[in-house]
Amino acid sequence: MSLPNKVQIVEVGPRDGLQNESVILPLDIRVALVELLAQAGLDRIEIGSFVSQQVVPQMAATGELFSRLHLSPRLRLSALVPNTRGLQAALAAGVKEIAVFAAASETFSQRNINCSVRESLDRYAEVVAMARTCGIFARGYVSCALGCPYEGDVSPQKVAAIARELFGMGCGEISLGDTIGVGTPLKARGLVELVAREIGIENLALHFHDTYGQALANIFACLEVGAAVVDGSVAGLGGCPYAPGATGNVATEDVVYMLEGLGVETGIGLQALLKASTFISRELGWAPASSVARAKAAACRKPAAL
Ligand code: HMG
Ligand code: MG
Repeated sequence: MSLPNKVQIVEVGPRDGLQNESVILPLDIRVALVELLAQAGLDRIEIGSFVSQQVVPQMAATGELFSRLHLSPRLRLSALVPNTRGLQAALAAGVKEIAVFAAASETFSQRNINCSVRESLDRYAEVVAMARTCGIFARGYVSCALGCPYEGDVSPQKVAAIARELFGMGCGEISLGDTIGVGTPLKARGLVELVAREIGIENLALHFHDTYGQALANIFACLEVGAAVVDGSVAGLGGCPYAPGATGNVATEDVVYMLEGLGVETGIGLQALLKASTFISRELGWAPASSVARAKAAACRKPAAL
């Protein structure tokens, strides 16, 4: 068995997590969450989106959020951008990294961004070219990579073709989104191997939601073939507004716990991460969805002798 020595974790909770919560949090709380995540050692954090406020009000004021954060410049903070208007707002806020988001399913693309997959890719080619001219790193997502909430099965070849196109237009990293968490380990690994043949495994990230409880197993299966960038959402927050029933991404603390156990370096402190998890869960009035947070809370309640 071969595993990477080090895995880079991309924290998407402040974006993918909070975008789907019914509570619209005040900006102070979003600021505090990002700061706690940075203190835990997360150096890549997707903090918001420059999308329509009517459609995703939870992500309004992402520009202000950027300007309120005074974190080390070594931190890579990013935001979703759906079009050139979003890019301009991101540039005005001083954003250094963006993410564009295409889908491998026509219906999902229409529901999510109101255009076809083809139209979205044409739009992103312009966005990414402009971003790169300004020295901005762009990540590209492929949603519904392992299944669509509307169309069911999705062709891995179609996912690979979209990943290749996003990579070809200048996205420096492609994140494969199991938007509704339906993947299982061999299917996930097979897809990663297929896409890696197109763009190289070093340019791939795993973005697995945990709806069916498969995300950790899927990540492990993909680490075995060399994937080394993993997206997680603190406390397992979130889902997707256009994927009914989908739960949050795999909880970052569960990923960190697994990787620590495997002897894989992440640079993240689990205790500090749990502080961020407890903080945001309390703010939302939820118990954390992560197994590690629940286990640690239960262990604190047990008598010392047990
Ligand atoms: P549209 O209706 O086709 O666009 O929406 P439009 O150009 O006709 O504009 C409609 C309105 O939005 C106008 O406002 C525009 O000004 C405004 P109005 O005149 O009606 O008041 N608008 C904007 N406002 C702010 N920022 C912008 C922007 N662009 C237009 N950039 C659009 C198209 C993409 C804008 C819309 O559908 C949208 O914002 N969708 C949000 C999509 C979203 O955020 N989805 C969730 C993230 S994706 C995800 O979670 C999956 C992922 O995690 C990976 C995975 O799990 O698989 C990434
Ligand atoms: Mg997602």
